[in-house]
Amino acid sequence: MRTSTPRRYLMCPPAYFAVSYSINPWMDPTKPVDPALALFQWEDLRDRYRALGHTVEVLDPVPGLPDMVFAANGATVVDGHVLGARFANPERTGEAPAHLAWFRAHGFAEVREPVHVNEAEGDFAVTTSWILAGQGFRSSLLSHTEAQEFFGRPVIGLELVDPRFYHLDTALSVLDGAADEVMYYPGAFSPGSRAVLARLFPDALLADEEDAAAFGLNAVCDGLHVLLPRAARGLRAPLRERGFDPVPVDMSELHKAGGSVKCCTLEIRPAPGR
Ligand code: ARG
Repeated sequence: MRTSTPRRYLMCPPAYFAVSYSINPWMDPTKPVDPALALFQWEDLRDRYRALGHTVEVLDPVPGLPDMVFAANGATVVDGHVLGARFANPERTGEAPAHLAWFRAHGFAEVREPVHVNEAEGDFAVTTSWILAGQGFRSSLLSHTEAQEFFGRPVIGLELVDPRFYHLDTALSVLDGAADEVMYYPGAFSPGSRAVLARLFPDALLADEEDAAAFGLNAVCDGLHVLLPRAARGLRAPLRERGFDPVPVDMSELHKAGGSVKCCTLEIRPAPGR
């Protein structure tokens, strides 16, 4: 039996959303985006979280930072400890201080500005026992050690090899519950990392290329519900077979920037016992 547990998320509305530069293969600045539709889709996601009993905090968007809607890249929060981000691309560096300021203003005592490049939950995935950490396109290898030292949790490094899946959260999703459970697309990882994943998660749900390219792995799980892009149809039945309740959402406008459900959602994981 799966059960959902109430979560606390931080989201940032796409008030200044645009595709004005290209830092991943999905971004085409010559293709039009519809900012009103992006906002509508984002509000729908926020309202669904709230309807499921979760708390959604809102971070004020900053003009000139069109990717700030992807709040998951701004900080990683484990046991109430906040590790800030350091972006790989200059277009996004301004987002990091806005996140640090939000956490400092909201009573988080342990807030660390990182030394090494890390794009937060874009590349850090927290399971019950470990932190899985992506590397290859954005976050640096050194950020893995930095995260391990800061959080005191074992960090498992994984190498990403396909530029379409430039962040770990485009290739792997934690099916968050009592056990270490994930779903992932093997083709996004190096052979060694694939072997590591097979060893740690022998029963993992494996996504095919089509569902991965529809951002099906950019999903958020509360223990029971799995919010995932509507276009990733192939994942719904296997999730249901495993006792999850898939909740399809339309994030088509944000796909144009290379992001979806998980990218828009930073999870604030509380200190134990809180
Ligand atoms: N345009 C953004 C970038 O390339 C998209 C970030 C998506 N976020 C994520 N967590 N995968 O940085």
